[in-house]
Amino acid sequence: MVEQDTTDAMRDGMKRAAAEAALEYVAPDSVIGVGTGSTAEHFIDALGSSEIPLEGAVPSSDATAHALAARGIRVLTLEEGPRPEVYVDGADEADPELRLIKGAGGALTREKVVANASRAFVCICDESKLVDALGAVPVPVEVVPMAVPFVASMIEGLGGRPRLREDFTTDNGNRILDVEGLSLTDPLAIELALDAVPGVVENGVFAMRPADIVLAGARDGVRTIRAKTGDGEDV
Ligand code: 5RP
Repeated sequence: MVEQDTTDAMRDGMKRAAAEAALEYVAPDSVIGVGTGSTAEHFIDALGSSEIPLEGAVPSSDATAHALAARGIRVLTLEEGPRPEVYVDGADEADPELRLIKGAGGALTREKVVANASRAFVCICDESKLVDALGAVPVPVEVVPMAVPFVASMIEGLGGRPRLREDFTTDNGNRILDVEGLSLTDPLAIELALDAVPGVVENGVFAMRPADIVLAGARDGVRTIRAKTGDGEDV
């Protein structure tokens, strides 16, 4: 148990280091988008402690909106603000092409909207999220409540094993199916296939809009990974 605690603490330190490195991508007086989860929380902390003035931030969840406001950062919506210059968010998995699986926190729909609305997407994570191929974690799928049984049967037809996330409702009033067993050899194809099922609001595969840069906290520093090459360098 002591060993596990140490590992968790180290991983959290790596997340914090990646989050702090993301400040470099925040332009003064700009509008930014901010994601959801423990790594995004580290980013919000770093932002609040920084001297960087902002026009405001578009949150990807109610929790992030509260966290931003608590640190005195102006919360904007996409309706009232210009497009964010950069979107900063965590991930559950990232492959060498910077395609992601997101949504363990259940905020995947707003995350995907803000990521797509932003000019650049900086993903922050610890190195355990870097994978050669997506698919070890379940793919979260946000579903309109009355459509859950139908969508679950359609997902089974795609080869997936859906499990309803218990006692969880999204910020949009919907449910989440966590899906194991899907073939993710073509992430874009499965992203589109899931979204084509009536009743699906969005899914957690980010292949159509991958990250532009992944900042991955590691034991020896923060690796910067850019799309296509997958080459790493220290920051
Ligand atoms: C929430 C997400 C998170 O970004 C993802 O689950 C990573 O979370 P964490 O930073 O806590 O590891 O997609 O919906």
